[in-house]
Amino acid sequence: MAAARRGGPAAAPGASVRVLLLAFFVFMLRGGPSRAEDDTVAAARPLSGGQTLVSKRGKFRLGFFQPDNSSQHWYLGIWYNQISLHTTVWVANRETPISDPESSQLSISSDGNMVILERGGGRSSSSSTLWSTNVTGIASPNSTVGVILDNGNLVLADASNTSAVLWQSFDHFGDTWLPGGKLGRNKRTGEVTRLVAWKGYGDPTPSMFSLELDPRGSSQYLLNWNGSEQYWSSGNWTGHEFTAVPEMTSAGASPLSKYSFGYVDGDNESYFVYNVTDESVVTRFQVDVTGQIKFLTWVAAAGEWVLFWSEPKKQCDVYAVCGPFGVCAENALPSCSCPRGFRQRQLRAWLQGDHTAGCARNAALQPCSAQKNGKDDDDRFYTMPNVRLPSDARSAAAATARDCELACLGNCSCTAYSYGGGGGGCSLWYGDLVNLQDTSSSGAGGSSISIRLAASEFSSDGNAKKLVIGLVVAGFAAAVTAVALATFLILTRSRRIKSLRRVEGSLMAFTYRDLQSVTKNFSEKLGGGAFGSVFKGSLSDPDATLVAVKKLEGVRQGEKQFRAEVSTIGTVQHVNLIRLLGFCSEGSTRRLLVYEHMPNASLDRHLFGAVGGGGVLLSWDTRYQIALGVARGLDYLHEKCRDCIIHCDIKPENILLDGAFVPKVADFGLAKLMGRDFSRVLTTMRGTVGYLAPEWIAGTAVTTKADVFSYGMMLFEIVSGRRNVGQRADGTVDFFPSTAAALLFDGDVRSAVDSLLGGKADAAEVERACKVACWCVQDDEGLRPSMGMVVQVLEGLVDVNVPPIPRSLKVLGDPTKYVEFFSGLPSA
Ligand SMILES: *[C@@H]1O[C@H](CO)[C@@H](O)[C@H](O)[C@H]1NC(C)=O
Ligand SMILES: *[C@@H]1O[C@H](CO)[C@@H](O)[C@H](O)[C@H]1NC(C)=O
Ligand SMILES: *[C@@H]1O[C@H](CO)[C@@H](O)[C@H](O)[C@H]1NC(C)=O
Ligand SMILES: *[C@@H]1O[C@H](CO)[C@@H](O)[C@H](O)[C@H]1NC(C)=O
Ligand SMILES: *[C@@H]1O[C@H](CO)[C@@H](O)[C@H](O)[C@H]1NC(C)=O
Ligand SMILES: *[C@@H]1O[C@H](CO)[C@@H](O)[C@H](O)[C@H]1NC(C)=O
Ligand SMILES: *[C@@H]1O[C@H](CO)[C@@H](O)[C@H](O)[C@H]1NC(C)=O
Ligand SMILES: *[C@@H]1O[C@H](CO)[C@@H](O)[C@H](O)[C@H]1NC(C)=O
Ligand SMILES: *[C@@H]1O[C@H](CO)[C@@H](O)[C@H](O)[C@H]1NC(C)=O
Repeated sequence: MAAARRGGPAAAPGASVRVLLLAFFVFMLRGGPSRAEDDTVAAARPLSGGQTLVSKRGKFRLGFFQPDNSSQHWYLGIWYNQISLHTTVWVANRETPISDPESSQLSISSDGNMVILERGGGRSSSSSTLWSTNVTGIASPNSTVGVILDNGNLVLADASNTSAVLWQSFDHFGDTWLPGGKLGRNKRTGEVTRLVAWKGYGDPTPSMFSLELDPRGSSQYLLNWNGSEQYWSSGNWTGHEFTAVPEMTSAGASPLSKYSFGYVDGDNESYFVYNVTDESVVTRFQVDVTGQIKFLTWVAAAGEWVLFWSEPKKQCDVYAVCGPFGVCAENALPSCSCPRGFRQRQLRAWLQGDHTAGCARNAALQPCSAQKNGKDDDDRFYTMPNVRLPSDARSAAAATARDCELACLGNCSCTAYSYGGGGGGCSLWYGDLVNLQDTSSSGAGGSSISIRLAASEFSSDGNAKKLVIGLVVAGFAAAVTAVALATFLILTRSRRIKSLRRVEGSLMAFTYRDLQSVTKNFSEKLGGGAFGSVFKGSLSDPDATLVAVKKLEGVRQGEKQFRAEVSTIGTVQHVNLIRLLGFCSEGSTRRLLVYEHMPNASLDRHLFGAVGGGGVLLSWDTRYQIALGVARGLDYLHEKCRDCIIHCDIKPENILLDGAFVPKVADFGLAKLMGRDFSRVLTTMRGTVGYLAPEWIAGTAVTTKADVFSYGMMLFEIVSGRRNVGQRADGTVDFFPSTAAALLFDGDVRSAVDSLLGGKADAAEVERACKVACWCVQDDEGLRPSMGMVVQVLEGLVDVNVPPIPRSLKVLGDPTKYVEFFSGLPSA
């Protein structure tokens, strides 16, 4: 089925290929919008929104992409075409994202430059240039083309001779340095090419961290913060290695020796290049969001990037990695946290791995004019033990710790003091504190620092309000240790393969008291379900981020296993899956999960409550998009996660809708969390029974196909806008899926659609939805499609046959049998 991708090479225009699948399930591939696999963009052949270019031998792909599906930002970028993980190596418009790829294109402008154009909002005639290669004085502007090469280089060249390069992406690095690229300095202009890290894992905006050849002329590479604060140096080039990177020549033992490095010091430029001796090795060098440089290689068998060299080896040696007032801890996940009295300044970015905005005060300090010694509301100090002190201290004359404190208190721009630590005596810090490190976990001891806080932080009242988030999730810190420390992950087989993605996720650990305060003592109930009640809350970050807090009931798992499961759920991220933000685990009774809050509540409210139930009437289009989104989310759970997750409880109550009615599947992973008790919970819940696959009831093994069944049942409800099981006016039972299946055979499926829509529904989509639903609820799970197939059918990429009417539908549709069927359930 993989060949059914839009625009893929197999989808020749107009051709339709029949694939016989599972005896009855026949799909027809249909050609997508055709732009034959091409590596060139020209004035007459611009590259528009959904299209991509592929390099000659298929190594790299160029096109518009979205690094973070939850934002509206799109970029033109280059990524690997032949590996399973979307990995961007270059982005053109890092600082000027586009909002709508449909109205954007990559083209060649009249002056011969390669440009990204975006059509203006209302008037479609005017388009603005978002990005340009900016080459001046092109001799023959009408004959330039852009070509994506097999080494990942995008070049602007003369159409008649593509060796005559006018501009190339290899001269304009992003965060990645590919084999063959030259990272160096132009001696005539003094310009350096620079690798600049992304701001967050979903945000290619340039961050403060960069790598460049020493602009002063030596042969060492420097890692800088904000272009000035140097925090690592490679040492000078000796002719075969850098003095601070002896690994380069430690014969054979280091993977670095598989590369050939060369430093070229010419008249006009000096630069460094590296080649991979083995063509099949896919490798990249990157300045990571964490401010570290990393050498990574793709291990196809593991399906991930493996880190084999990184500098600085310690995360906390990166300058200001946790931002102002942030506290760095080595071997912790996340490595940054906020000290007492502070909270994350930008929570959203923080959760994406970008901690550089640091921490903000919960309560403002006394204004300068109001400072009077000895008053109750004077600022006070919180003393934090076991820290590595920030380096920019100023010393002051003070004989005692109290004098030192008074010296700090006496100047309102003083933010912290330390007495007797480090070099002894009294040290004062002014303004933002950067590079504060918590050394308690490393066992190295350290100094203590006293941080100035508002007096209200010390009153008991203030304490109750305070919420310390971003705590180290101690349970899995150890698991990630190796990534932070990863020095030489010599590829001694998969045993030592560590996931890099794991460090990107971060869950907040809450205390029960935190969550009481977040939810105003669980006062606003959003709903309840098989696993417990859900309450609305708001975090105490500046945005007052809304959250949904779920109080789990009946979790019998031990602490360790619970944390392991929760961390697994935390790593699952998809635009159609609800995002887990944090958790609380205090004994077996105080187990809570903190999720993002969805303003439009759950799908059932709108499907069944559009009239007088507080919901809104969903248009056909919205319903179809919801069906498609849920299918994508489930497909992700079933196929794309590290461990396949069976949801086990798909029903409209578990589909949440965000502000734009984008569906998010909720409660995934809970089945595992609840352990063996789960099926008992399900089968005793009458409301859920209508969605349960026969195998649940039969007690045989349950696979992902059980979710497919439930999805099918829900899809019928999305079409009809009412519960599958209803009562007719004469009191007989009406089972909608049976009705719909019969209508499918009669070819009159449109009358199955919610009558409230007044016939406003796309007939082809209705038919597709009903057919898919009917296939999904087949008794024989082997006949049910996978969620991936469902997605393709709903996307219109494949056609599907009329399904046989499942036996259970016939049975359920017959009112006399219906009762029998239900009474066959195991009793509670
Ligand atoms: C091209 O030039 C414009 C105007 O000088 C400038 O704003 C823009 O940043 C440049 N673009 C690139 C990619 O250098
Ligand atoms: C480029 O093409 C435009 C219109 O297609 C034409 O007006 C112009 O003279 C051409 N320029 C050159 C240098 O050929
Ligand atoms: C193409 O351009 C390259 C680089 O400018 C040049 O060396 C080569 O001679 C050109 N080839 C032809 C056929 O013009
Ligand atoms: C970064 O450096 C620039 C100039 O070198 C300076 O104006 C700016 O304040 C610095 N940014 C920060 C966050 O210190
Ligand atoms: C590299 O060489 C330059 C002079 O060429 C020197 O100033 C610098 O200190 C050297 N760097 C190291 C790390 O030795
Ligand atoms: C890298 O490969 C290129 C092209 O094959 C070659 O010109 C260059 O000398 C090689 N550099 C090193 C350091 O091996
Ligand atoms: C350096 O630049 C000058 C002037 O552009 C050129 O004549 C010379 O050949 C260049 N040297 C090298 C080694 O490319
Ligand atoms: C506070 O200390 C800073 C840094 O030493 C100094 O510039 C400033 O003048 C001091 N302010 C007062 C009011 O003493
Ligand atoms: C974003 O969506 C696209 C298309 O649906 C998908 O290919 C990509 O993997 C998604 N990215 C993430 C980070 O979920």
